[in-house]
Amino acid sequence: MTGGGMSVSAPGGVEFEAKITPIVIISCIMAATGGLMFGYDVGISGGVTSMDDFLEEFFPAVLRRKQQDKESNYCKYDNQGLQLFTSSLYLAGLTATFFASYTTRRLGRRLTMLIAGVFFLVGVVFNGAAQNLAMLIVGRILLGCGVGFANQAVPLFLSEIAPTRIRGGLNILFQLNVTIGILFANLVNYGTSKIHPWGWRLSLSLAGIPAGLLTLGAIFVTDTPNSLIERGRLDEGKAVLKKIRGTDNVEPEFNEIVEASRIAQEVKHPFRNLLQRRNRPQLVIAVLLQIFQQFTGINAIMFYAPVLFSTLGFKNDASLYSAVITGAVNVLSTLVSVYSVDKVGRRVLLLEAGVQMFLSQVVVAIVLGIKVTDKSDNLGSSWAILVVVAICTYVAAFAWSWGPLGWLIPSETFPLETRSAGQSVTVCINLLFTFLIAQAFLSMLCHMKFAIFIFFSAWVLVMSIFVLFFLPETKNVPIEEMTDKVWKQHWFWKRFMDDDNHHTANGNGKHNGSV
Ligand code: BGC
Repeated sequence: MTGGGMSVSAPGGVEFEAKITPIVIISCIMAATGGLMFGYDVGISGGVTSMDDFLEEFFPAVLRRKQQDKESNYCKYDNQGLQLFTSSLYLAGLTATFFASYTTRRLGRRLTMLIAGVFFLVGVVFNGAAQNLAMLIVGRILLGCGVGFANQAVPLFLSEIAPTRIRGGLNILFQLNVTIGILFANLVNYGTSKIHPWGWRLSLSLAGIPAGLLTLGAIFVTDTPNSLIERGRLDEGKAVLKKIRGTDNVEPEFNEIVEASRIAQEVKHPFRNLLQRRNRPQLVIAVLLQIFQQFTGINAIMFYAPVLFSTLGFKNDASLYSAVITGAVNVLSTLVSVYSVDKVGRRVLLLEAGVQMFLSQVVVAIVLGIKVTDKSDNLGSSWAILVVVAICTYVAAFAWSWGPLGWLIPSETFPLETRSAGQSVTVCINLLFTFLIAQAFLSMLCHMKFAIFIFFSAWVLVMSIFVLFFLPETKNVPIEEMTDKVWKQHWFWKRFMDDDNHHTANGNGKHNGSV
């Protein structure tokens, strides 16, 4: 940070001059289509894996078991190969994210999004045309690589390009697209499940739409000033900054980014740097946020809603219908977050949602515990409605809290020097735990039965307590000032900050070299 009259680090926090320009809004909308693809992939597999034509072609054993219906209700879909279809994407994604860390830093946020788009397009072709299990899995792996690159670049792009005061809201466009993708996938499955025998192919091929949108978006957007400046393109960075902020008075913000990027230049090994003591708070929070996000149990619902609902005794159609309802609740509730995250802040949303998710899960567990026995699927219709309502209140709470904030908070708390590496760890952990849940859920459901919801509710309790004590508020703090304004002020985390004076407000702090 430079000193100077317009200093934003003055007590009370003066804001940088920044209009909310159309170019910022349009760039964000385009970039956020990366989320659409992620959401479509998350949402499509549950419906596809409950289609008989698909099972007959790739998993005949599961189909036989499903038709014989001798198997316990909770266990009929328990098949590792079937779970691998869903989860291979996440394994590929978490590996890809380390390459994506390099490309976001060296090639920029925009080009990384373009790479993601190309992976997606090729993956879609493999999936739609799959003749055997191998093609199917290769397609999922390519899509996974796309997810790794997109989830790395898009949240950073959004957080960097947004004016501080609406950064949360704009960043959440990513998650909004994730939820729209899931809903779109549910709707598609609802339609294609009636088309025999190739409905599932259509489901998988329509992923081409979000893939194409992201690719086009990445061609047209400008890169972020932070990324341009980080790569030494100072003039271009300044010009972009003027354009996106809608003012010529960008000197204070420009200087702050230049300073952040000067420090970033000194870092030769971003991942090693990430492990230094002074980066511990952001790292711990980013990692835990991802683990917690997945341990809310959301993907048990998102991937397997159709499977779950048919386990509960809804007929096939009704189960897709219920999945569409949860999908719609997911989208609408995310809008609540877009609107409120920069007003009420991150913590309030997370804490309120903790209570709501906990109660909803307990209700689901109780109803299932009492009403669903091993061989009987007659959850009477009023009980079934209660389960759907409780699942909806749960999804709503997730959608305005852990869903978006799991992506927002890590993307805005790391300093520029570790931002790419930090985001890559974030995505990696997210996908790792998404994978674990995807792979384990059907078996857990089979063994734990209704208690699976008690398991997740206990986690919700743990994460809410963590938020209460350890998660600082980051609303309205300029992105390159987090160290001073957030971490150095926090009752617990500040102890990690006092071993060096790097990032101090006067910008003269000496970098301690040992990277
Ligand atoms: C999570 C996904 C989840 C989705 C549901 C995202 O934030 O990362 O795993 O499926 O939200 O809306």
